[in-house]
Amino acid sequence: MKDIYILGIESSCDETSFSIVKNGVEEIATVISSQIDIHKDYGGVVPEIASRAHVNNITFVLEECLNKAKMTMDDIDMIAVCEGPGLVGSLLVGLEAAKTLSWIYKKPLIPVHHIAGHIYANNLVKRLSFPLLALIISGGHTELILMEKDYSFKKLGGTLDDALGECYDKVGKVLEVDYPAGPKVDLLAHQGKDTYMLPMPLNDGSYNFSFSGLKSAVINLAYHEKQLGHTINKEDLATSFQNIVVNTLLKKTVRAMEEYNIKNFIMAGGVSANLGIREKFEELCKSRNILYTFPEIRYCTDNAAMIAAAGYYAYLDGKKADYTLNAKSVLELK
Ligand code: KG4
Ligand code: ZN
Repeated sequence: MKDIYILGIESSCDETSFSIVKNGVEEIATVISSQIDIHKDYGGVVPEIASRAHVNNITFVLEECLNKAKMTMDDIDMIAVCEGPGLVGSLLVGLEAAKTLSWIYKKPLIPVHHIAGHIYANNLVKRLSFPLLALIISGGHTELILMEKDYSFKKLGGTLDDALGECYDKVGKVLEVDYPAGPKVDLLAHQGKDTYMLPMPLNDGSYNFSFSGLKSAVINLAYHEKQLGHTINKEDLATSFQNIVVNTLLKKTVRAMEEYNIKNFIMAGGVSANLGIREKFEELCKSRNILYTFPEIRYCTDNAAMIAAAGYYAYLDGKKADYTLNAKSVLELK
């Protein structure tokens, strides 16, 4: 079969990224322009600022990606673009770029779901095998997804309120660390002891998650300690918080692994960069003889390599878009 080079485009939140991936497995070149420094002062992503930054960056990032790959648009076979879910204004910038390139260079346009992208970041490390269980933990999602084959997704459960990354960012505010707080909370958690009593969130028989109660518990605890004139031990609070998170994730994941006779476990999304979470899931998979893959740390957060990789399997699955393709803030993964 002829090699297929896919140009991936990701702009759903605050990263403008282009990547070229061969046959869904081999990364040729990736460029990511992050806006973290722009949004830092606001403690989160400001949608209007994000779309403007995408407009400013997009042509430069494309040019840099092609230069890095030593390729031209003539070498590209198709264009995969993230259609959602995400911030509409941000998505539109990537989509317009994709449609324009597709029209000028006469290349097929492949729509990719953002979470499918996160999942296929793992395919760049090791080819996915099935039945597969994916734990998606990011700034916008907390989901358990079952895959019986490529590009086939069944959602077993998801968050009823805050996404895990959001919860990390809010807890980070209490611990007075900069946005995005996840990596710093993880670091603090490795330096403390589990001393604070926090509630186990949604400890039920479903595959759903709920982290807003845990978030509020951390905020309230810090408030009460302050009222009492006590200083909180940041390391210990981070450890106590992260332990509850890990135990909640493990509990539901183990049950899904047993129910669906899982052979391959993967994690995806920004929070899957968390070393504490990785350590525990690695132990779990080893003890149960389940194959596992975690994305490269740099590809846990948003990037276009994951979109280009997923785009290959979306294409094999017959997904193709025309120029009416539009941005979707909410989009079911199926
Ligand atoms: O996947 P992502 O880039 O954005 C969405 O698509 O939602 O994830 C960003 C989130 C942020 O909330 C950030 O704090 C979190 O991922 N994050 C982490 C770590 N690295 C990034 N959370 C916990 N531990 C980490 N090491
Ligand atoms: Zn993401």
